[in-house]
Amino acid sequence: MSVFTPAPFPAARPRRLRRTPWVRSLVAEHVLTPSDLIWPLIVHDGDEDRVPVPSMPGVDRLSPKAAAEAAKEAASLGIPAVALFPNIDPSKKDAEASGAVDPDGLIPDCIKAIKDAAPEIGVMTDVALDCFADHGHDGLIENGVIVNDATLDRLAEMAFIHAHAGADMVGPSDMMDGRVAAIRDALEANGFQDVLILSYAAKYASAFYGPYRDAVGSAKALTGDKKTYQMDFANSEEALREVAADLAEGADAVMVKPGLPYLDIVRRIHEAFHVPTFAYQVSGEYAMMRAAAANGWLDEDRAVIETLTAFKRAGCAGVLTYFAPRAARLLGV
Ligand code: PBG
Repeated sequence: MSVFTPAPFPAARPRRLRRTPWVRSLVAEHVLTPSDLIWPLIVHDGDEDRVPVPSMPGVDRLSPKAAAEAAKEAASLGIPAVALFPNIDPSKKDAEASGAVDPDGLIPDCIKAIKDAAPEIGVMTDVALDCFADHGHDGLIENGVIVNDATLDRLAEMAFIHAHAGADMVGPSDMMDGRVAAIRDALEANGFQDVLILSYAAKYASAFYGPYRDAVGSAKALTGDKKTYQMDFANSEEALREVAADLAEGADAVMVKPGLPYLDIVRRIHEAFHVPTFAYQVSGEYAMMRAAAANGWLDEDRAVIETLTAFKRAGCAGVLTYFAPRAARLLGV
């Protein structure tokens, strides 16, 4: 706490600093720009270029070609990076999530298409097995248990395949113990020492992922919940331990997920570690705002800028948000 005690009224009139637009902009403590945004793209292996996601109005599942167009759009809007999440045909899923390590799979295809279309854009990928597994879990299952160590090899191979296809940044979102070290070793051993790891360090078992699981088609498949690996929302000390572990294992930056209900976690991490800290404004947060706006209950444009600025105020270096292109347009590039 500061030792400064403000002068009492009327010497102090805090409203003086809010009276006009010019003074408000002069004293603004945080500024949101398109360069703070990462745009998550849901990609699919279906025939259509775009298929709307019902629970996420305004979000489409994209073919590799459409993803490349979206990446170009991102570049033109000043959005530095996109993040890819796959919707795989259920007939191609199996218990081992074999598709996750297919070098000719959907994600490598999308990375290449994006790199051809918009080479200046950063491409981030999701490293987790759920979208490729017929059981919808982020890890392999033995005797009904999500097994940790056996999953690590698969995740490391998956990250390698993404890097090999041209990914700039991998995002392990699985919450297995030791995955960052396994991925960092695999990248280092194969000449991909420059690939960034943005780890989903504090990822909570959250109701707010519901629409995403529809979008990627993992909802129907999922048996049980993810509470044996994703974090309990009652905890925050644990988030600091997770971040410390991921940084020690070789993460370059860390993420908190979901976003808005977890700004206290962002703030604590930012203050404790002084590393680039990101948050993910997840599908449920997006869907809530879209639904309220569709009912005329919320001014959506204002709510988008307000929530994204709140992430910056909490200490975020950047935010993953489905609102990225809309926000960039509102910010007037
Ligand atoms: C899991 C993963 C999830 C999201 C991205 N990757 C959540 C989950 O199903 O556990 C959620 C993204 C969102 O809700 O927008 N690998």
